[in-house]
Amino acid sequence: MSQLFKNLTRRKSATELLAEHQPDDSIHGSDLIRSLQLKDLIAFGIAAIVGAGIFSTIGNASAAGGPGVSLLFIFTAIACGFSALCYAQFASTIPVSGSAYTYAYASFGELIAWIIGWDLLMEYAIGNIAVAISWSDYFTAVMHGVGLTIPEYLTMDFLSASRGYQAAQEMMAQGQAFAALPDSKQEAYLAWQQAPTIAGIKLVADIPALGITILITYLVYIGIKESKRTANLLVLLKLIVILLVITVGAFYVRTDNWTPFAPNGISGILKGVSAVFFAYIGFDAISTTAEECENPQRDLPRAMIFSLVICTVLYVVLALVLTGMVPFQELAVGDPLAYVFSRVNLDVIAGIVAVSAIVAMASVLLVFQYGQPRIWMTMSRDGLLPGAFSRIHPKYKTPYFATFVTGVVVAVPALFMNLTEVTDLTSIGTLFAFVLVCGGILLLEEKQKVATATHKGFRVPYINGKYVLPLLVLTAVVLLNQFGQAEVAAFFSMSGGWESFQHKIPLLGFVGVTAIFTVLTFIKNLSLIPVLGLLTNLYLMTELGITNWTRFLVWLVLGLVIYFTYGYRNSKLNKAAATAKV
Ligand code: ALA
Repeated sequence: MSQLFKNLTRRKSATELLAEHQPDDSIHGSDLIRSLQLKDLIAFGIAAIVGAGIFSTIGNASAAGGPGVSLLFIFTAIACGFSALCYAQFASTIPVSGSAYTYAYASFGELIAWIIGWDLLMEYAIGNIAVAISWSDYFTAVMHGVGLTIPEYLTMDFLSASRGYQAAQEMMAQGQAFAALPDSKQEAYLAWQQAPTIAGIKLVADIPALGITILITYLVYIGIKESKRTANLLVLLKLIVILLVITVGAFYVRTDNWTPFAPNGISGILKGVSAVFFAYIGFDAISTTAEECENPQRDLPRAMIFSLVICTVLYVVLALVLTGMVPFQELAVGDPLAYVFSRVNLDVIAGIVAVSAIVAMASVLLVFQYGQPRIWMTMSRDGLLPGAFSRIHPKYKTPYFATFVTGVVVAVPALFMNLTEVTDLTSIGTLFAFVLVCGGILLLEEKQKVATATHKGFRVPYINGKYVLPLLVLTAVVLLNQFGQAEVAAFFSMSGGWESFQHKIPLLGFVGVTAIFTVLTFIKNLSLIPVLGLLTNLYLMTELGITNWTRFLVWLVLGLVIYFTYGYRNSKLNKAAATAKV
């Protein structure tokens, strides 16, 4: 048993990792080109961050929470900021591809590293499915705007079409006219009705989502130079358009739309957690470029923090502009940024925004299609995945097999999957990765493992949490007692049996973890920033509901089965230990 535990926690030291991944290291096939500078990395970060979240999912979040959703953007940015600092320390300590996976290998050991690598698939690949689907929505709308209508059944997923068709039928059975149905229901109805049937199955699939994924995967396949240039150009366009939305939109803000500020209370605002968090995902992807940076130690931390700060400012202002321009309820649309301008009869601006959304989301796809293969490449070098995943293309110098597999993994589900479900899964998976990265920093700091390796690099500023954390927890308890008595009473109420209790499990877990960390921080003088990062991200996870937790856990179990049937035995560390014994 203790041998099994030792194997599962076998670790790579930071020095070992660095030694393994020297530039132009032909033994490990790591001859990626070091060409990225700080400005490229910031562009890369913004390319990853600003996308479907701000162009699309912000709409439903604002419709649920009202102008108060801007506070959620600030809270989420703070949680992401704590994680960014932790990511930055890791990225500067261990500047190799692989992101949180590599960091986990150094701090927690192999099993957790595998779990996190598996979990990052959720962030990158499943996230990209969501982005491809949103991209397709905007693309279809723009095509429609210029008079090229694509049949509905070729632009939608199967589930949305069949559910929407049923809902539309029910509404019409109750006497509602087809023309009076919401646009989304009309589209689903038509998609289902017009779809050809093959072998008894309706052929409904999102073809534009497939097309864009293939195109972007091709760009990534042929190399970083092309991808970098494309990313820089896309980001510039994206920022210009967002600034345009903010400056023009500001003239149409009616401040009375901001009252009440939180029309549906805190719970309304919190409904937007998954959508708002999704909008921030991406800054961590910068760390996957470590082996292609000119100066990773200096530039990776800076790029992560800069891009996060820039995006936070843009998001908060955008949220206020949107909710100021129209009554918040109206924002429950898939293209809120374009919608608000058509509402004030600025159709040209609406068109520009819609086109730019297409560009913006394409750049997000680019970054994640770029990042995912590099994580696989790293896992393959460690023996946790087959060797093909780390093969580098002789001409393009990219991990071509991993890139191809990523393309398939994203393109095929993008044809069929539902946007909300993939967004939720992406957010819960990414939050989990953030929690582990913050935990990793705590562990490394505790064990002083990186003390020598990091003296030149970035380090999370140490603030002793001994008294601050208990004080913060106490303040939260007092505030809850003062303003949230009804919620607290509902939480502790025993009525409703298992059906009601199961929804409380994530929050109960959070309360338990907070209590444990408060005591630990008091006793061990833990560093405040990683502790707060861990707790705030865990809290955001609790807001995602038991269904997502269940799906997430099923995903993790699947990953464990793969690890124990392949990675555990083929791990390089395992083989090294076996050779040492002989
Ligand atoms: N943050 C990225 C987006 O919003 C994932 O599309």
